[in-house]
Amino acid sequence: MVTVSVIKADVGGFVGHSSMHPDLQTSAREELEVAKQKKILIDYHVSYCGDDVFLIMTHDRGVNDEQVHRTAWETFLKGTEVARKLHLYGAGQDLLSDAFSGNIRGMGPGSAEMEFEERPSEPILVFMGDKTSAGAFNLPLYKMFADPFNTAGLVIAEPLHAGFTFEVHDVVNHQKILFNAPEEIYDMLVFMGSPSRYAVKAVYSRRTGEIGAVSSTDKLSLIAGRYVGKDDPACVVRSQGDFPAVGEVLEPFAMPAIVEGWMRGSHQGPWMPVSLADAHPSRFDGPPRIACIGFQLADGKLVGPQDMFDDPAYEPARRQAAEIADYMRRHGPFEPHRLPLEEMEYTTMPAVAKKHAGRWEPLE
Ligand code: 13P
Ligand code: 13P
Ligand code: MG
Ligand code: MG
Repeated sequence: MVTVSVIKADVGGFVGHSSMHPDLQTSAREELEVAKQKKILIDYHVSYCGDDVFLIMTHDRGVNDEQVHRTAWETFLKGTEVARKLHLYGAGQDLLSDAFSGNIRGMGPGSAEMEFEERPSEPILVFMGDKTSAGAFNLPLYKMFADPFNTAGLVIAEPLHAGFTFEVHDVVNHQKILFNAPEEIYDMLVFMGSPSRYAVKAVYSRRTGEIGAVSSTDKLSLIAGRYVGKDDPACVVRSQGDFPAVGEVLEPFAMPAIVEGWMRGSHQGPWMPVSLADAHPSRFDGPPRIACIGFQLADGKLVGPQDMFDDPAYEPARRQAAEIADYMRRHGPFEPHRLPLEEMEYTTMPAVAKKHAGRWEPLE
């Protein structure tokens, strides 16, 4: 069995929240190389989207392994030191705890991990988001694994025809539920369509029970109880054979869906699919970005990466995202560009409400 662990955090932005300093990636590579030499990891790849560093690691220790999580945590601490030295913005932003206690979950970084028997050919796709939040993968995962207008294989490929099981997490009450697609999609969408509360954690093949996708559902603000940056998420998807083809996995991103997390974590905007070269959100700190790197696994080794959105076929989506961004921006401080009050991560409301508390008069 092989485990793919993607653990990510924002430990400092360059410049502001827009991108990643190369020294921070170098430091992460050095740390993971040590872990590889120590045989904690089989292989690793360090990547980024905007100001978030993504550690893509393979090993044979299963999910939630203490040594792998400690490796990631210490890599982020080293990255924070680099960020402090360079005075990068928000050094250590996503590290909410001082001491590692065995598992990285609940400490700020996001994690998406899956364990499986590697197939003779095992294409995997790692999605990396910035200026968005956990739950943003609900719509694309629905399209990949439940929508025949996206995934032709659901209709015409025998291994996909039995459908998929979705594991949905209630991130507020910390509970989970399994829904079977296609027969339960109407009930499932009642929950999934509200991604700030319900997030798709994993998807399984109903034919084999094999895991096909996993996403990070860690909610920073719920952990910290206050605004501390956005939980820019990761998602890993296995492809081909019993799972959607690579092109079916990527197809949902040809539509720049509206996600939350733009500017101060408090605005909605279109999710623009970009190559790594364009994974540097700058306009109004955005618009939100999604990058994807592909690998073939070879006995746990990561053969790649291939920069999947580095394809002119996504130009119309990028153009449309830029147009939607323009349109949304014209709403300025108004909803639905600004998030509804209860969703905002960043607000002066308590102070302003207090200031004017005595001026409200009852209506006639
Ligand atoms: P500052 O208030 O520290 O400038 O941060 C604003 C911001 O970028 C929030 O993410
Ligand atoms: P990050 O969550 O990517 O750090 O962005 C913070 C922000 O609010 C930028 O405006
Ligand atoms: Mg940041
Ligand atoms: Mg970020």
